[in-house]
Amino acid sequence: MRCSAVLAVAILALCPLAAFSQTASAPKVPQKPVQRSAPPQVVAQTPPMGWNSWNFFHRNVTDQDVRHAADQLVSTGMKDAGYIYVNIDDTWEGDRDANGVLHANSKFPDMKALADYVHSKGLKLGIYSSPGPQTCARFAGSLDHEVQDAQLYASWGFDYLKYDLCTFREAVMTAQAPNDKAAQMRLMIAAYDKMNKALKSTGRPIVYSFCQYGWDAVWEWGPSVGANLWRTTGDIQPNWQSIYSILNENAGLAKYAGPGHWNDPDMLEVGNGQSSGPNSPIRYLTSAENRTHFSMWAMLAAPLLAGNDLPNMTPEVRAILTNRDVIAIDQDRLGHEATRAYSDGELDVWTRHLSGGATAIAVINAGSDRYSGHPFHLNLAKLGLHGPLKAKDLWTGKDITLTDNMPIELASHDILLVRIPSPK
Ligand code: GLA
Repeated sequence: MRCSAVLAVAILALCPLAAFSQTASAPKVPQKPVQRSAPPQVVAQTPPMGWNSWNFFHRNVTDQDVRHAADQLVSTGMKDAGYIYVNIDDTWEGDRDANGVLHANSKFPDMKALADYVHSKGLKLGIYSSPGPQTCARFAGSLDHEVQDAQLYASWGFDYLKYDLCTFREAVMTAQAPNDKAAQMRLMIAAYDKMNKALKSTGRPIVYSFCQYGWDAVWEWGPSVGANLWRTTGDIQPNWQSIYSILNENAGLAKYAGPGHWNDPDMLEVGNGQSSGPNSPIRYLTSAENRTHFSMWAMLAAPLLAGNDLPNMTPEVRAILTNRDVIAIDQDRLGHEATRAYSDGELDVWTRHLSGGATAIAVINAGSDRYSGHPFHLNLAKLGLHGPLKAKDLWTGKDITLTDNMPIELASHDILLVRIPSPK
């Protein structure tokens, strides 16, 4: 029997002869302190918060952009509000050398130095790969190099991996099991588990983020192969249609989320926008859309990974991203995701149970400006509640009283988000 037992108790119980074999008068406790292995470190007990390069920089991200993002997280107060992970998405990868070791490309001249820099700010660093031969942007993936890559990330000091299915579909799933969906799914699960085991074998606590767009109901099997979070849908875009349709696709998934394992409706587009053509101006999300997007990601207990240009964000966008009351909903320690209570025409009402018996209610106007002048009446009874209820409006910061059948005026795409400390 190996007697390098972890606990002194175990040594005493299982290896009495070895523990006391020297002499009859040997001390009853080992003279050298027993080496106890550290307990497994838990990650993502609340939804991870940070920043990711993809939504703003796409393929163009560089080492400098990542350093600037880290600087900004600190100087804008975002770090203090909980944004800790600085995540490099696709396009950092270079070539493998003769030993199969992957090197970063010229945009990232020294990953270890970058990790040290980010860590020196009290932040953590994330990286990106694919189980396929190539990533979605056609850079080197981890296929057949999973252990080697996991070791590389750990040696550089990474704390988070986003693992994106991409080319694994054609190169492995359809190639090996062309007409067998069940076999394809088994191949995919095995690939995610392979990297899970490779990450665990590094001994470094690394958040494991699945990105396979919600295929094959990943929320049902992801946690069993190590997922701390899993994308539930296709890619988000910086426009209302995309944000609202992702929100609706997440209705019904609440029961799968909880501490250590979260539904991921994709990274935030708060502060972003897009142009409809080469000569069109950028159409940014409106203030109302930014507020609603951020509020509802918090209600969904979603990872809050800002995806905007931090050095150039407006004070308004910064205020939205650092609203502590809304962040507290997201980070509530119970981890109970919101559910959609009811819809009434273009109005949706969601509720979320919070620790200490509190409740959050979100009312969204997904439609036109009609409700600006013609109020919607919130039916508290449909939420199992009765007015009057003392609440806080989390966007004005003011105390309000909710009454039965209360009239609410909401502009297009805007939200009322309230926290009720003692619902009845
Ligand atoms: C996929 C993912 C995105 C991003 C890109 C990078 O589309 O869903 O979030 O990571 O790949 O190529």
